[in-house]
Amino acid sequence: MSNPFTPDLLWQLADDFNTPLWVYDADTIRQRIAELQAFDTVRFAQKACSNIHVLQLMRAQGVKVDAVSRGEVLRALAAGYQGGFGEPSDIVFTADVMDQATLATVVEHKIPVNAGSIDMLHQLGQASPGHAVWLRINPGFGHGHSNKTNTGGEHSKHGIWHSDLTMALAVIAERGLQLVGLHMHIGSGVDYSHLQEVCGAMVQLVQRTHAAGHRLQAISAGGGLSIPYKEGDATIDTQHYFGLWDAARKQAEALVGHHLGLELEPGRYLVAESGVLLGTVRATKNAGSNHFVLVDTGFNELMRPSMYGSYHGMHVQRRGVGVLPAQGDAVVAGPLCESGDVFTQGEAGVVLPRPLGDAQVGDLLVIHDTGAYGASMSSNYNSRPLAAEVLVEDGKARLIRRRQTVDELLALELGL
Ligand code: LLP
Repeated sequence: MSNPFTPDLLWQLADDFNTPLWVYDADTIRQRIAELQAFDTVRFAQKACSNIHVLQLMRAQGVKVDAVSRGEVLRALAAGYQGGFGEPSDIVFTADVMDQATLATVVEHKIPVNAGSIDMLHQLGQASPGHAVWLRINPGFGHGHSNKTNTGGEHSKHGIWHSDLTMALAVIAERGLQLVGLHMHIGSGVDYSHLQEVCGAMVQLVQRTHAAGHRLQAISAGGGLSIPYKEGDATIDTQHYFGLWDAARKQAEALVGHHLGLELEPGRYLVAESGVLLGTVRATKNAGSNHFVLVDTGFNELMRPSMYGSYHGMHVQRRGVGVLPAQGDAVVAGPLCESGDVFTQGEAGVVLPRPLGDAQVGDLLVIHDTGAYGASMSSNYNSRPLAAEVLVEDGKARLIRRRQTVDELLALELGL
C-alpha cells in the first residue's frame, strides 16, 4: 500500500542501478522510529533488514539492535554498535541455540544473550560466568500473520516454556549469570486481544521472578507490530500499544518496588513501508484464462508471497507515461524455474490474478512494502546474484549494497 517514491525517481534509479533493485526511503524509517519514542528502548530486529547502512541510520536515531546470528552481531558491530552489558545494552543476541563460534563472539564482545533454551544458559554460564542474560519466555499462546510466524504455544520451538521459568532462574543462580530482563515475542503480526494476554502473562512472570529472589532491570515486549499491506488492513495505534505495555510495566514495578525499563523490538514496523522492489517487465503471455506478466525479479529476491502467500501492493509504470491505471487481472510472476515463483498468490500457493496496469515489455513493476523481510530473505536460487540496494536520503540515492556477480558465486566453489 505504501510507496514513498515518485515514478520519475524510480525510473532514474532503474536506469542508474538496473533491476532488480531494492530501494529504501530514510525519512519513512525516521518517521516510524519517532512514532515509538514513548518506549524507553526501541531495539531494531535487524533480521527484517540488516544492511549495515540501515543499521547506521537506526543507530543515529538512538535505536538499539537485536541480533539472531553471529553474522548479525558482526553487522551490528560494523555499523558502530558497541558490545557491553550497559543497561540498555547496544546489542542483544536472541536465539534458542548457539554454536561454538557464536558463543565465542558474544563472550568476546560482551553481548547480552536473550536465551530461548535452558541449554543455552548452561553453555553460556560455563564459558562466561557473570554474563548478562535475558530470558525469552514462551507463554503458551501466540499469534502471527501466518502459522509460520506464530512463535508462541506448544507447536513453537521458540523461548523457554513458561512453566520452566523457575528452572531457568535456578540455572542462572547456579551458573553465576546476571539476569537483565524478561522477554516475550509471540509472533509477527499483532492483534490487540493477544497483546492484553501477553501483558498479563508478563506481569505474572515478573512476579514469579521477584518471588524467586531475582532482581530484574527491564522487560521486553518483543516485536510483531503489523503494517497495512492492503486496503482494509489494520494500522497500529502506537499510543494505544504503548499504553497497554506501560500499564503492564507499572503493575510489574508495583510488585517489585523499583523501576523497570520497557523495551520494544520491532522489525517490520520500522522498515517495511520504506521499501519497494523494482523489476522490469520482460514478457507477457496468456495461459487459458490467465494473463501473465513476467518480470526479471523472483522469489529469490522477495520470498514472502511464495513462502506465506503474503500480499504486496504493486503498480506498473511506463517511461514518459507514468503509473498505468489498473485494468484487467494479471498474474505477476518471476524468472525462476518453478511455478510457485508468483508474486500474486494466496497462502495455499494458488495464483490470485489481480487488477494491474496493461503491462508491456520494458515497463517497470514496482512492488510495495518490501523494506522488511525482502532483501534479508533473498537467496541465490537458480544461481541468481543478490540484487543491489539503494537508500534515498534528502532526495539523493546512495548505493548501499552493490549487485553481487555470478563470478563471486562461482569463486566460492572454484579453486578450493
Ligand atoms: N523479536 C524476535 C525474537 C523475533 O523473532 C522477531 C521476528 C522480531 C522481534 C521482529 O518481528 P516483527 O516486528 O518484524 O514482526 N519472515 C516473516 C517474519 C518472521 C519474523 C521472525 N521473527 C515475514 O516475512 O513476515
